[in-house]
Amino acid sequence: MLAHLLPFIAPFRARVIGSIIFSFILAGIGAAQVGLVQPLFDRGLSPESTREEVLWLAGKLLALGILNFPARFFHFYWIRTAMEEATCSLRTSVFSKMQRLPTSFYTRSKQGQMISHIINDTRIQAEALKAFVDLVREPLKAIAYLSMAFWADWQLTLVIFVIAPFLAAIFQVSGKKVHRNQADVQREQGDFTHAVAEGIGAHKITKAFNLQKFVTQRFTYFQDRFYQAQKKTMFVEEFAHPLVEVIGACAFSAVIVFAHHRIQSGATSIGDFVSFVAALALFMDPIRKFSQANVKLSQAKAAHERVMELMNYEEEADKGSLEPTKFEKSIEVKDLTFSYGEGEVLSHFSMHVNKGEKVALVGLSGSGKSTLINLLLGLYPVDHGTILLDEKPIADIKLNSLRGLFGLVSQDIFLFNDTIRGNLTLGKDFTEEQISHALKVSYAAEFVDKLPQGLETIVGDRGTRLSGGQQQRLTIARAFLQDTDVLLFDEATSALDNESEKVVQKALESIASQKTVVAVAHRLSTIQDYDRIYVLSQGRLVEQGNHSELMAKAGEYAKLYDLSVKS
Ligand SMILES: Nc1ncnc2c1ncn2[C@@H]1O[C@H](COP(=O)(O)OP(=O)(O)OP(=O)(O)O)[C@@H](O)[C@H]1O
Ligand SMILES: [Mg+2]
Repeated sequence: MLAHLLPFIAPFRARVIGSIIFSFILAGIGAAQVGLVQPLFDRGLSPESTREEVLWLAGKLLALGILNFPARFFHFYWIRTAMEEATCSLRTSVFSKMQRLPTSFYTRSKQGQMISHIINDTRIQAEALKAFVDLVREPLKAIAYLSMAFWADWQLTLVIFVIAPFLAAIFQVSGKKVHRNQADVQREQGDFTHAVAEGIGAHKITKAFNLQKFVTQRFTYFQDRFYQAQKKTMFVEEFAHPLVEVIGACAFSAVIVFAHHRIQSGATSIGDFVSFVAALALFMDPIRKFSQANVKLSQAKAAHERVMELMNYEEEADKGSLEPTKFEKSIEVKDLTFSYGEGEVLSHFSMHVNKGEKVALVGLSGSGKSTLINLLLGLYPVDHGTILLDEKPIADIKLNSLRGLFGLVSQDIFLFNDTIRGNLTLGKDFTEEQISHALKVSYAAEFVDKLPQGLETIVGDRGTRLSGGQQQRLTIARAFLQDTDVLLFDEATSALDNESEKVVQKALESIASQKTVVAVAHRLSTIQDYDRIYVLSQGRLVEQGNHSELMAKAGEYAKLYDLSVKS
């Protein structure tokens, strides 16, 4: 797993190595400090000691304290910054991997879990780096203290050898339990994050339906599950700590009885004894930290597995090699059958669109109109049948090029919480003239001009500071600015009242002139002059023709038209 982290660590290996070198110095300082205990008790505090002796001791203590400052600072600062920077670059690689995942991944995953992978798992994984340094530092410290204890009184030191295995066993067992529980904690945290995001996103529905109690219950339910998972860890950890202290107390009691005997017989001095006790007390700490580092390492391993599951997820198939920059002739859908998993959503559907034509898809809700738009955009691979763009199967076209030919005004509006300008340009460069022209043709200028901050107005989360019609006109302006050859409209007007719908409709018509259009139409009055209308019913093509031909048929379309005019 550390090997997997290597590419992320490599840029700051100097800091990692520096930090490890300082581990040795820190262990040395620790040993030297313990080494001062014996002379301090036996000489420094004795009434017979000279002033020079005391000053000399105090000087040494001071020097160690001062030396400790840079050693600790660089050791910890370097490793922590290295770890956080490794986290950042790991996150970037996970996030950009997500950009390459297929649409189906997003419709199947929970947002909270994904957020948790990007934010938490990457961090836990990068903690392996710090754990690794801990696994070097702590044994060094343990050896240093052990040597000092040995130096002070080797016979008493044997006690350490008796208790060390017990301590190690406790830490090992509790560490394993904590680790095993960690997967649950992570999963519950993901679900909890999801519930929080959902609860915030649902603020309007919550108010409208008086759902405060319902969403709060959902929130507390997931919070409680998260807490219960954490509680298990708390129990194990908090049980282990006092257990260790009990063992420590046993060891100290034994040591005191034994030491009393040895001091009386003159085999050891008070200074040696205190020095030994200091070394013994300090020795517990590296053992604890060593096993904690082990736990961190196994947690990192588990997080690494979760991250790798995502990193190994099959990316959106992009096997095409053609890179058309212009739409030349036609789009042809031939005998298309498609399913999202179970049940055919489109079956044996065919249609064609010549350059410059305007074609509409109509049908009841769920008949597969948006699905067809998804397939044209290459969001899902086609199961059976083909979609040809300029006589080439779209599977042979690079996804970026394919999507670059289409401008989408979609059913679900997405605006970034950014300025109107930012939402129009989407990171590309456009002149002021281009932007104001786009606003004008999409009838968005009429409200943007009235805003005190104009183009620099922040639209709010998902555009919620604007009205539905305003949001839609911005997405139309955005599609216009991108200046693509084919426009895909997916029911851009369904959620609007009559007045705004008319404006949006005008906007659509005005940007559609000179373009090839595939539109999912809801209000059938808007498509009367379209070249061809395809009527879908449960994924099947039931009728096609222009408005007057279809009305003359008095079939499915005529029924839909009547419904639409009445509504
Ligand atoms: N991601 C998905 N996973 C599984 N099934 C889906 C998915 N998206 C849509 N469906 C199903 O496919 C069918 C067609 O959906 P589609 O969105 O294409 O309908 P539509 O004609 O656009 O309807 P509407 O007019 O309501 O927008 C529906 O039965 C829907 O439940
Ligand atoms: Mg739809």
